Amino acid sequence: MPEFQEKCKVCAVDRLSTDVYRFIIQAPLIAAAAHPGQFVMVRVVDSFDPLLRRPFSIHQKFTDGSIGLLFKAVGSGTEILARIDPGDFLNLIGPLGRGFDLALEEPVCLIGGGMGIAPLHFLARQLVVTGQSFILLGARNRQEVALLADEFQAMGYTVQVATDDGSMGHHGFIPELLDSVLPAVSRVYTCGPFPMMKTIAEQCLRADVVCQVSLEAHMACGLGACLGCTVKAAQGKYVHVCKQGPVFNSGEVGW
Ligand SMILES: Cc1cc2nc3c(=O)[nH]c(=O)nc-3n(C[C@H](O)[C@H](O)[C@H](O)COP(=O)(O)OP(=O)(O)OC[C@H]3O[C@@H](n4cnc5c(N)ncnc54)[C@H](O)[C@@H]3O)c2cc1C
Ligand code: FES
Repeated sequence: MPEFQEKCKVCAVDRLSTDVYRFIIQAPLIAAAAHPGQFVMVRVVDSFDPLLRRPFSIHQKFTDGSIGLLFKAVGSGTEILARIDPGDFLNLIGPLGRGFDLALEEPVCLIGGGMGIAPLHFLARQLVVTGQSFILLGARNRQEVALLADEFQAMGYTVQVATDDGSMGHHGFIPELLDSVLPAVSRVYTCGPFPMMKTIAEQCLRADVVCQVSLEAHMACGLGACLGCTVKAAQGKYVHVCKQGPVFNSGEVGW
């Protein structure tokens, strides 16, 4: 699959909550080749500190050649990104990795926990919503998730939310909402914290529903060269999340 390195203009910066940001970035080559579930490696500064690029899911893709990134400021790299202004430039490599298999015309359920919601926006737009398709969103609080929930609803999905503080939707965790949805769908796509995805994979296995998961790992290169993103897979094997993933069938993962 083609990969590109582009110097990209940041067209818009939105602060969705205290530490969550959405960028719209002109990246025509990456946008043209992007598939839901793939990611980009972003160089956050022109100098050497921090040296390594940071991985971010492709959150949105637009017909004008731009892409959206959704990220939380959690450390040195993302805090620098949070200070970017519209008109600034970022160096991106992408699209990288293996994305989601698109199930067309099947009732599906998309499940995002925390920043795991990021790749689901692009996926949700590419799927043809048939019958009742669902999105379950887990977040710390209403502020983090309300706008995204509205956007998914506008795409035709039935949205259910779980928040840690009970400020929106179910007060608790996403897997608690899933059992009532599973009989209505044939496929689940999920991205979020590892324990959440493990529970979801087990629920899908019991219900005989196909499940694809998007894994996170520390990534130094994103290109299959450094072996930094190796994780344990099923049957004692090891996989590189950046090349063989980040999306895997749940049965391929060494839970
Ligand atoms: C394929 C992929 C897609 C991703 N997509 C998104 C996204 O769309 N939005 C988003 O907000 N984040 C996403 N991430 C996570 C994002 O890359 C990290 O939050 C970011 O690299 C942190 O950089 P930093 O310099 O700010 O933090 P650092 O100072 O490097 O670390 C801060 C904290 O974050 C942890 N951390 C750093 N990188 C990762 C990682 N890759 N996985 C798990 N924990 C990590 C560190 O252990 C530390 O506790 C993705 C990660 C991967 C692998
Ligand atoms: S991040 Fe370097 S091999 Fe995957």
